[in-house]
Amino acid sequence: MLLCALFVLFHLFGEFYSVFGASCGCSSLVIPVHVDVLVPKDPMDEFAGLKSNASDLRRVDDIYDIHGVFCRPDRGSLQNPSVIQLLVHGFSYTSQYWSPPVEEFRNYSYAAFSCARGLPSLAVDWLGVGLSTRPVNASDVQYPTVAGAVSQVAIHLKTASILPGVPPFRKVIGIGHSAGSGALTFNAIVDGARSPFDALILTGDINLGAGNMLPPLSIVTPARDDTPLRWGNIDPGYVTWRNRSIFYPADPTAFSPRMLEFDGFTKDVATASMFVQTAGLSTFTVQQYTGPVVKIVGSEDQVLCATDRCGDVAALTASERVRWPKARSFEVAVEQGSGHDPNLDFKAQGPFNTFVGFVNQFSSL
Ligand SMILES: *[C@@H]1O[C@H](CO)[C@@H](O)[C@H](O)[C@H]1NC(C)=O
Ligand SMILES: *[C@@H]1O[C@H](CO)[C@@H](O)[C@H](O)[C@H]1NC(C)=O
Ligand SMILES: *[C@@H]1O[C@H](CO)[C@@H](O)[C@H](O)[C@H]1NC(C)=O
Ligand SMILES: *[C@@H]1O[C@H](CO)[C@@H](O)[C@H](O)[C@H]1NC(C)=O
Repeated sequence: MLLCALFVLFHLFGEFYSVFGASCGCSSLVIPVHVDVLVPKDPMDEFAGLKSNASDLRRVDDIYDIHGVFCRPDRGSLQNPSVIQLLVHGFSYTSQYWSPPVEEFRNYSYAAFSCARGLPSLAVDWLGVGLSTRPVNASDVQYPTVAGAVSQVAIHLKTASILPGVPPFRKVIGIGHSAGSGALTFNAIVDGARSPFDALILTGDINLGAGNMLPPLSIVTPARDDTPLRWGNIDPGYVTWRNRSIFYPADPTAFSPRMLEFDGFTKDVATASMFVQTAGLSTFTVQQYTGPVVKIVGSEDQVLCATDRCGDVAALTASERVRWPKARSFEVAVEQGSGHDPNLDFKAQGPFNTFVGFVNQFSSL
């Protein structure tokens, strides 16, 4: 109950400020973005319009408020003031994935972990999710719009000051989780060499393969049926999971049962479109993106590594690399013991160190 009350509090006030120690501060902010993209008329088009004829597409031209939590180290401990990490959560999560907003789970905060190592970040809520604008019609929330909003935020970070005293950043490093990695990949497909992202760190996202191991759409449920009190009158195209335990390792001693409980309290919505398009997009080749890319997956990921396909890192790397022919560099890292949500189990510090290592490596290029 207490966790639940805290969660509601954060959402009611929409703004909070917390200090993860003397050297780091965070603030909640909203960035209005102009999204002007083509989406498939059929919201169940698994290729998100990328294979559609013009007559099967429609234009979405709108301005959305994208909510994010910006964390920055003190000037003194700031590693490289010109680089920022843009953190993009996965399906049915929010920006809180990168920083669970309760004391007990403070050490599961990648925003805090990286900030303490001198790296600023902005963790955004997807369009339709958390405190960002939720379009009335769920068919407006597809990869082109969700990813388009993220791309606009990246451009904003490079061209404008997001807070008084914070100059525009020179480099934006995208760090995604699961379908959030999918959104960054979608942008890399669409924006190619013009991408505002200087490097990509894609966690919990490897090609689902010919067998398409993503569970069927029926595994998620319309949010309004799941939690009527909270989502009773939203479009049934907004869906959620009844239970997200599949995102944790199968071994119940690998994570805190209280984290799974907290996970249930903080779940959010996503759309049926985003669900089916996640599978479709995982088969695409990113022809023109030229920045460095790393994919990071947990060996105990029950969604992606169930058939032990993550055991042979060389083979996995070979099969993933072909999808990024122009990337400046490409590698795959397997985190031993981590689940699909590497940030939320007992091993979290391992992946966090890996992410920071790649951010530092990519920042210096
Ligand atoms: C696109 O249009 C062409 C020619 O009109 C047609 O043959 C093709 O099937 C269409 N493709 C899709 C995906 O609808
Ligand atoms: C949602 O938008 C689509 C495309 O404009 C439209 O076909 C559909 O009828 C809309 N649904 C609702 C419930 O308004
Ligand atoms: C969630 O699903 C798992 C596996 O199916 C099950 O063991 C667990 O009891 C479920 N938890 C809740 C709260 O329903
Ligand atoms: C967080 O700290 C607690 C208590 O020190 C520890 O049991 C837990 O493993 C830590 N979690 C992570 C993700 O490091």
